[in-house]
Amino acid sequence: DKGGWSSFMAKEITEQPEAVANTFRGRVVDGRVEIPELSALGEERLREVDRIVIIACGTASYAGQIGAYAIERWARVPVEVQLSHEFRYRDPVLSPSTMVISVSQSGETMDTLMAVKYAKDRGVTTVSVCNTQSATIPRESDAAVYTHAGPEVAVASTKAFTAQITALYLIGLHLGRVRGTLSPEEEAQAASAFEQLPQAVAEAVETHEQIAQLAHWMADTRSVLFLGRHVGYPTALEGALKLKEIAYIHAEGFAAGELKHGPIALIDHGQPVFVLVPSPRRSPVMHSKVVSNIQEIRARGARVIAIVEKGDTAVLPYADDVIRMPLTDPLFEPLVQVVPLQWFALELSTAKGLDVDQPRNLAKSVTVE
Ligand code: F6R
Repeated sequence: DKGGWSSFMAKEITEQPEAVANTFRGRVVDGRVEIPELSALGEERLREVDRIVIIACGTASYAGQIGAYAIERWARVPVEVQLSHEFRYRDPVLSPSTMVISVSQSGETMDTLMAVKYAKDRGVTTVSVCNTQSATIPRESDAAVYTHAGPEVAVASTKAFTAQITALYLIGLHLGRVRGTLSPEEEAQAASAFEQLPQAVAEAVETHEQIAQLAHWMADTRSVLFLGRHVGYPTALEGALKLKEIAYIHAEGFAAGELKHGPIALIDHGQPVFVLVPSPRRSPVMHSKVVSNIQEIRARGARVIAIVEKGDTAVLPYADDVIRMPLTDPLFEPLVQVVPLQWFALELSTAKGLDVDQPRNLAKSVTVE
């Protein structure tokens, strides 16, 4: 049941406020983050972890990249993110104090399952972030942290992605508290960011009409670039993947700081570039760097579509389109900024007359290696 929407993807985009709320419900209580499934592993085991490897594919790997910033910030453990199919074949360095966190919506992705088994066989603690109750990956893992986003039907992942980020943030906070690296102020700040999150995501969903108009104009576009910094970088990668998957348009995401090391040569007259702009209030340094990136690409003819915090006027002189986002904690920006990117892919796919929910050559769950 598409609930009155023209596609499951549209319905699932609009379900995100509820999906993220369901993921943190019962896990943030009175300003304190507690994941019982992690507690069950024992505090000692969590304190001994000296390295975390996140393994996932596709969209789930971008959620992993975003989660890595938060886990490092709060738990002060080095985190790396590897694609499941690369992990296994590199002879990874693993020890009993390594924790492997897999991220998978379906819990059946063969590449990720094989990587989890590989890690488990080497005595590593395995934690599964999964959306599908009792799927194979959570069953094979030492602990399962379910996202509770509800069933995702569209092939292109949307609400599972934001729920995965939410779950990884909760894991980061739980680990940080147990390990004593999380200050009470940080915990309180994160708890309040969670409280405000559903409303903020709901506001981001409201960009639909504006994005639909933009996509309508851009139906003939052959290539789109996405730029971001820090957590905005994996968000940019996710925006590009969505567009490839369902609109069959060449798209690439870049770290904004990497532009001058090569990709800026791609910028030509009329090249559409989405730029994820950090908050000017909370991340002034990164904000000013991204604004200079915008100036650089604008001077070379790019068509700039800036996703900014509402009230940010610094970007206005250099942007062709401005999409305004609610105020959020900087680490939580991906959870709102990705929403207009999801709408954009959906609307461009629709404008091209494609099947939004069932893109060619793709399956919802990839159960072969
Ligand atoms: C993107 C997409 C894929 C999946 C990937 C992992 O929209 O759907 O990139 O994210 O195949 O799938 P799961 O999360 O089920 O392991």
